[in-house]
Amino acid sequence: NPKQRLALRGDLLDFTSMPGWAQLDSPAVRFQPDHWLLIEDGRIVGTQAAAPDASWDREDHSGKLILPGFIDTHVHCPQLDVIASYGTELLDWLNTYTFPAECRYADPAVARAGAERFVDALLAHGTTAAVVFPTVHKTSAEALFEAAAARGMRLVTGKVLMDRHAPDGLRDDVAGAERDCIDLIQRFHGRDRLAYAVTVRFAPTSTPEQLAMAGALCRADASLFMQTHVAENRSEVEWVARLFPDARSYLDVYAREGLLHPRAVLAHGIWLDEDDRRQLAASGAQVAFCPSSNLFLGSGLFDWPAARAAGFRVSAASDVGGGTSLSMQRNLLDGYKVQAMAGHRLSAWAALHAATRGAAEALGLGGEIGSFDAGRLADVCVWDWARGPVAEARHAVARELHEKVFAWMILSDERNLLASYVAGKPQFRRRPDR
Ligand code: GUN
Ligand code: ZN
Repeated sequence: NPKQRLALRGDLLDFTSMPGWAQLDSPAVRFQPDHWLLIEDGRIVGTQAAAPDASWDREDHSGKLILPGFIDTHVHCPQLDVIASYGTELLDWLNTYTFPAECRYADPAVARAGAERFVDALLAHGTTAAVVFPTVHKTSAEALFEAAAARGMRLVTGKVLMDRHAPDGLRDDVAGAERDCIDLIQRFHGRDRLAYAVTVRFAPTSTPEQLAMAGALCRADASLFMQTHVAENRSEVEWVARLFPDARSYLDVYAREGLLHPRAVLAHGIWLDEDDRRQLAASGAQVAFCPSSNLFLGSGLFDWPAARAAGFRVSAASDVGGGTSLSMQRNLLDGYKVQAMAGHRLSAWAALHAATRGAAEALGLGGEIGSFDAGRLADVCVWDWARGPVAEARHAVARELHEKVFAWMILSDERNLLASYVAGKPQFRRRPDR
């Protein structure tokens, strides 16, 4: 069989390594204006300035920006139904809006329709891979795995573990949860581009026995991911201290059960101390920075420079429905503002790296996604550099590369997206302008 050959022309931008924090002229930035990205059988095989020969299907996106697909390392599928809910901090928000919405996912038809709507929404925002919370219901994890597999997407998820402090219909128990996890791991972990994450909602909604079960699953198979929330909100942190009086800190509740490891993704990490930061670095776990959510729920300001100093990995995430947009640019815009409030400046390079190659490497998936290195699967998005008169005028006067890309990151959103390719196949295309 002849190989499927696809070549995309445009301004190619990706990273070869982690850019320095405030370095605007960074050798880690690989910008190849008006180049061709060559894709064979769904994999990137190279880039070149010259047009490839007629054995290639060619798509000319000249004058457009081409980036690796974004990776959202923390987002909740069922919470599209509660995005933009008014007036609460975390614990009230969970009880008032989120838990009732999640109850509906007990119905397999609701879970299936919700999962399809969700993965299509990710692709329509330029996000081609994600680490996702479904609900406590086994059927909600199955629905997400199936929806991602049908589109060839890289997706990491697992049924949510919660056996206390949640309403009826939204709790499991240790034995039943363990059975469900083992069954889902056998059926989905490592199939297609799917991987299983042991998914502890957060310390308050799991008994110590359930946390021990989750830790045992992780210890039994180092290829499993783990996802949870940590140190997001001050009332939450106080509650955890009351529930786990023996733990040194909130993070320590997870650490002592064996839940901190290189495949662990912990959302937020706002209210950490230096011992926590050292422990995160030593474990290889990553924090998913969720600035939109942190601002919207009034949770606090994540200290990214302290994370860099301690040496743990940070990726970018939307945390929808705590966050208010699936657009990674919108989230990075909020990330810039959060850092600015603390007197720090987030470069477009540090931000975009954390949503592409940096996230991929933190997940141990750098060999598959996150860059245009040869051999990576072609998860690729094509963007308008500017849309609308204000962004167009700003783009036109920008001279330096960082200035152009920073203005794009700050002013663009999903309306700039032209196409998303997953493993070289178009899975989203913008409808033509009327
Ligand atoms: N902590 C526990 N559950 C949640 C959730 O659904 N969203 C956020 N932002 N924090 C949480
Ligand atoms: Zn979350």
